[in-house]
Amino acid sequence: MANYDVVGNVAIVKFAREDKLKEKKKYAEKFLKEHKAVRTVLEKANKFSGRLRTQATRWLAGEKTKEALYKENGCVFRLNVDSCYFSPRLAAERLEVAKMVKKGENVLVMFGGVAPFAIVIGKHSRAARIVSVELGRECSKYALENVKRNKLTNVEIVQGDVRRKVPLLGKFDRVVMARPNLRDSFLDLGFGAVRKGGVIHYYGFHPLDEREEMISMVQGEALRAGRRIKILRVKKAGEIGTKKYRFRVDLKVS
Ligand SMILES: C[S@@+](CC[C@H](N)C(=O)[O-])C[C@H]1O[C@@H](n2cnc3c(N)ncnc32)[C@H](O)[C@@H]1O
Repeated sequence: MANYDVVGNVAIVKFAREDKLKEKKKYAEKFLKEHKAVRTVLEKANKFSGRLRTQATRWLAGEKTKEALYKENGCVFRLNVDSCYFSPRLAAERLEVAKMVKKGENVLVMFGGVAPFAIVIGKHSRAARIVSVELGRECSKYALENVKRNKLTNVEIVQGDVRRKVPLLGKFDRVVMARPNLRDSFLDLGFGAVRKGGVIHYYGFHPLDEREEMISMVQGEALRAGRRIKILRVKKAGEIGTKKYRFRVDLKVS
């Protein structure tokens, strides 16, 4: 009948279209009893949408809040589930990327949200500097708070549009492109920000049978940017809808 995500103390439940409010409330009350760490149950009212990738939720049961305190990979994050994109399903992905970061690297995270990628990298690597760029003002406030909360001194938060901010930030050894599911690939910016010999982790959203087109598009963008690339790995990094996947393409740039 329903599927859900738990973000710390908050559960967000997606119901079937035909479910009645009375049934949803009953489900939510039961959910609270069965999940002791969950204090609030919200209904997911629409998909992530717009540039800020926000979702709308409706309160169903428990404490009336939209603010979550969430722990992952030994880090802690505070965020508002309506005004900030956040997916607990990316926890393993974040750790996997963090483990690839080598000592002394400068890392750029584009589309940083409340800074989960930057903070997990900060905790699990010996990177010299990590910069997280996020458009949303409220998300960026949470991101700053989260950096302090996790006692990291090498993570910087930049609020603004990546198109304006990234060209001012210099070159990086590694660029994480935790992209929103929008048309713009933003790869021109990634290629502009990565130093020779550096690595880009690019996220794309496609059906399985478009995997090859995605790779050609990445190669085409590299050509346009005048950069030679070697594709190191293409992996599925989660399902985002019926037969549509989030792919991660790791590429080395020379
Ligand atoms: C898919 S979310 C990723 C969030 C985060 N990396 C995470 O894993 O939770 C995409 C984020 O990109 C931000 N965003 C969208 N367009 C942007 C732009 N042009 N410049 C900077 N951030 C942008 C959105 O506000 C959103 O927080």
